[in-house]
Amino acid sequence: MRQATVYIDSDALQYNLNRVKQLAPHSKIVSMVKANAYGHGVKDCLAALDATDAFGVASLEEALEIRQLGYIQPITLIEGVFSEDEMQQVIEHKLECIVHHNQQVEWLIQQQQAYNALGLKVWVKLNSGMNRLGFKVTEIIDVIQRLKAEGFTCVLAMHFANADADHPLNEQQKQQFLHVKQACDPILASCCNSAAIYKYPELHFDFVRPGIMLYGASPFADRNVHELDLKPVMTLSAEIIALNQIQQGEYVGYGSSYTASCTSNIAIVSIGYGDGYPRAYVKPNFVAIDQQLVAVVGRVSMDMIAIDVTHINTDIGTPVELWGKHRLVDDVAAANGTISYELLCRLSNRPIRTLI
Ligand SMILES: Cc1ncc(COP(=O)(O)O)c(C=O)c1O
Repeated sequence: MRQATVYIDSDALQYNLNRVKQLAPHSKIVSMVKANAYGHGVKDCLAALDATDAFGVASLEEALEIRQLGYIQPITLIEGVFSEDEMQQVIEHKLECIVHHNQQVEWLIQQQQAYNALGLKVWVKLNSGMNRLGFKVTEIIDVIQRLKAEGFTCVLAMHFANADADHPLNEQQKQQFLHVKQACDPILASCCNSAAIYKYPELHFDFVRPGIMLYGASPFADRNVHELDLKPVMTLSAEIIALNQIQQGEYVGYGSSYTASCTSNIAIVSIGYGDGYPRAYVKPNFVAIDQQLVAVVGRVSMDMIAIDVTHINTDIGTPVELWGKHRLVDDVAAANGTISYELLCRLSNRPIRTLI
């Protein structure tokens, strides 16, 4: 059988959840499991994340999948509902909405009795400068006061555009959030994703919303997961299916973009962009074999890549780590001009999935 396998390490996931607890001991944890748990497979991840306080997803469908799997924790729809009809399901399945525009507020108020009777919180999104979703600082206080008057329990929610970096917008976002929080006091509050959990301990408030750190990838370009004391959850693995010795001047792969500079041993590995392995590497890219880094050479094909194994012992069947504990997904992403989030989320369903 063709070996392209995604291993999910549930101990690592639990370890990372505990790291969130250590970093934010006084906050409840809303574990972000949207996009199929960042590509890790929501079914496998939910069990390992059972100790979380709540889950965060991007759509009703994602929330219903969690309910169908039997999990009863609170679930926040981080974009809210997309139509009035969805409010019925929100009530039926006990889901918590974000409201980020006025129509959502009206839909919610129509369900006020049922929603409040279930003890659900409503998350009210502040647009403090990211300009994606939310009410402007000049509007949100009225929205919150109206919701409070209708008996809703509100959570003031905000998302940093640059929590992973030093950017002047950070201070503006923080000040706007604190201003609204104070003006609406008492109110529950939540503004920290993974990067902000590390960077702004003073802003953890009632709920933190970790995503990428749970999966053992770094939210920062300049700090790796070892420095952050996180463990990679996913290993993408394949194996060597052919070995070719080639002479100086011979080519490898489509476009003949790689030319051997000396006699070389080239191994062909059973993974390609059809599995979700990125094709666009812009800097030298590597895989790991027995903890050693080995260079990818030539173009990535749909089902195969070539690696230069001239200096190591390998054979047909040797396992190759595309990313995992020895070749970090963050480094593969950097070599491909992208971020780990994208690589993890866009794996195809072709690799076999195994929970360890
Ligand atoms: C509203 C919101 N909160 C939290 C997160 C988690 O972010 P991260 O994966 O960077 O921790 C996201 C991710 O996109 C988000 O959209």
